[in-house]
Amino acid sequence: MDYKKILEQYAASSSNIMEALHAVQDEYSYLPEEAIIEAAKVFGVPTAVVYSVATYYSMFSIKERGKNVIRICESAPCHIEGAAELVAALEAELGIEMGESTPDGRFALEYAQCVGQCQGTPVFTINRKPYLNVKPESVPGILDEYR
Ligand code: FES
Repeated sequence: MDYKKILEQYAASSSNIMEALHAVQDEYSYLPEEAIIEAAKVFGVPTAVVYSVATYYSMFSIKERGKNVIRICESAPCHIEGAAELVAALEAELGIEMGESTPDGRFALEYAQCVGQCQGTPVFTINRKPYLNVKPESVPGILDEYR
């Protein structure tokens, strides 16, 4: 869906800015500059306000990236339970390194801080859906859901 149409759905209140940006990012996988400018118009706030929200929170990206965003928690509890092995498995399976996107634009790999699922370490999310207690050998099967 076009970002203008998405933003219109949230236009009723400026308290919806975060939700609106999430919705745009769910569609585009990042926040295009023109969508940030449009959001400022729709919500009647300075562009700098929307830009600062888009750049302050690590779950938002203003950089174009792969459609399915994989975020690996690197906070201490996940680190202790094997996040590094998950990173290695993901990098090997996708043929890219952390911070990169696959050439076909299908996947992006990023680090995240605690995503609030510490009961199931190690954890990664794909498009905000959490995967808990992930073993490196489970990575190919999980990625197949998004191929
Ligand atoms: S430390 Fe990884 S989800 Fe909380």
